[in-house]
Amino acid sequence: MGPSESFSHVTPGASRGASHSEPRRLSRIHSLRVSVTDRCNFRCLYCMPSKGVAWLPHEELLSLEELYENVEWIAHRTDLQRVRLTGGEPLVRRGIHHLIARLTALPDMPEVSLTTNGAMLAHQVWALKAAGVSRVNISLDTMNPQRFTTLTRGGHLWHTLSGINEAIRAGLTPVKLNAVLQRTSWQEDVPRLLDYAAMQNVEIRFIELMRTGTERSWCASELVTVDVVQAWLARRAGIYPMPVRASSPSANTIVRWYGHDLSVGWITPRSQPFCKDCDRLRIDACGRVRRCLMDPATFNLPGIRSLGEKQAELAFFDYLAEKHAPRGMEIDKGMCQIGG
Ligand code: 5AD
Ligand code: SF4
Repeated sequence: MGPSESFSHVTPGASRGASHSEPRRLSRIHSLRVSVTDRCNFRCLYCMPSKGVAWLPHEELLSLEELYENVEWIAHRTDLQRVRLTGGEPLVRRGIHHLIARLTALPDMPEVSLTTNGAMLAHQVWALKAAGVSRVNISLDTMNPQRFTTLTRGGHLWHTLSGINEAIRAGLTPVKLNAVLQRTSWQEDVPRLLDYAAMQNVEIRFIELMRTGTERSWCASELVTVDVVQAWLARRAGIYPMPVRASSPSANTIVRWYGHDLSVGWITPRSQPFCKDCDRLRIDACGRVRRCLMDPATFNLPGIRSLGEKQAELAFFDYLAEKHAPRGMEIDKGMCQIGG
């Protein structure tokens, strides 16, 4: 997206019936991922290096109220339709349901959802439901308990499975499972995950491994692309393509798996990047906006707002005018530091 193209999407008070006194809106941004913390109770192999990552300093973290105000500021200047809370692990942040309740009360905000590793979900699911969470995505890469513990560096499979059960029971649906494909284990993991998704009647999405903070050589040796997995699957099950939203990162299919028609998504950042129609932004727990997961240039929203709202708005639009497809799917930061 070039600057002129981006500004052709900016309209004074476009949509939502706004008046001319309201700020301009950037109408091609529909989705915001809010990383409420960079902390996590897991340390997944693909997310961070074995020595861990340097956590954001406590004094730089925004309070939930400040985070809300910055999300509201963005919502007033874009055409947000979806807010997704991420981390780190969003459920380690105390009082998150208060933030959710504020976000769901924003005008014209049809969806506030959550991406979680599920380990702390069972205890919080009803508070999240009461706060108005629409649905949850839960990371589940393997059904093998030992491998789960190795992969998450200490997590327990059954914690995540009980989180999934409770989410389904509470109706935070459609629950979607996210599984990162790894070359050395996918042939065991994919069929067992499909069995589980069929048993629970939930959607599952398989994701190609990106290098986010991990060793380049490890990431290269563990990469398997979706076409390899699909070719293997096509010899054992029917795969039927489904229509998909233009900006969605996931190609959707129905997989006929032992008599079940399963909804299976394929996320292909490595083999077929989906950046062209990207409509999303990210903001981290310090209030730094990221126009792209793989772009190191961030926009310090609270800092720039302190210079004056008008100036901040112009700088924000200038920053977003440079939202381009990245050159490669790798970054030296862990996913927990960027907001998954
Ligand atoms: N490559 C692909 N997906 C990743 N995730 C985290 N790190 C990576 C990576 N390096 C996914 C997790 C989770 C979501 C937050 O991001 O599976 O579902
Ligand atoms: Fe935590 Fe998610 Fe990173 Fe795993 S991938 S360490 S669950 S933030």
